[in-house]
Amino acid sequence: MPSTSSWRVRPARPDDRDFVIGLAPRLTDGFPLPPWRTPEEVARTEAATLDLALTVLPHGNALLIAESADGKPAGLVYLERLFDYYRRPHGHVGILAVAAETEGQGVGRVLLEAAEDWAREQKLHMLSLNVFAGNERARRVYERLGYMPETLRYVKPL
Ligand SMILES: CC(C)(COP(=O)(O)OP(=O)(O)OC[C@H]1O[C@@H](n2cnc3c(N)ncnc32)[C@H](O)[C@@H]1OP(=O)(O)O)[C@@H](O)C(=O)NCCC(=O)NCCS
Repeated sequence: MPSTSSWRVRPARPDDRDFVIGLAPRLTDGFPLPPWRTPEEVARTEAATLDLALTVLPHGNALLIAESADGKPAGLVYLERLFDYYRRPHGHVGILAVAAETEGQGVGRVLLEAAEDWAREQKLHMLSLNVFAGNERARRVYERLGYMPETLRYVKPL
């Protein structure tokens, strides 16, 4: 298994499009979605966000790719500058996904460390993210890397 230092992180390029859009279905992979969301809805929305980031990256945002030493892409993180409800500017991990074949090999850690570097460069003092409550694996990864729950979003389908 490659060590964490085997992965490099760089900004996304136009020729990453197939890899980037191809990762959208990973955002519904391996955990139960809430019954009011469909995998198609989630993957379609993630793909549209990634497509926009590749086409006209909103000012201040970043789309980063982790790749192996021989240049094979392995994962991505999409970073946004946001203001929270309390008007505090912060960095937001909009999308994080690692290719299924490289899961559990340190790519997620490398991407989240790059997110922290990006946020510090932007003079942002906090990172946030949303995760489906049922995505236990991602939640354990985030907690392992120092993220803590803040608010909980409740939904009631009518
Ligand atoms: C969540 C995801 C990005 C994690 O990426 P990954 O490359 O598999 O994660 P890593 O291998 O870098 O693991 C990161 C850390 O979490 C730990 N970890 C991983 N799985 C864990 C688990 N099930 N329980 C506890 N710790 C875990 C690892 O040991 C590692 O910590 P360490 O470096 O101190 O050993 C990846 O599983 C993924 O793409 N999932 C599908 C998409 C998704 O759910 N994205 C998040 C949406 S919010």
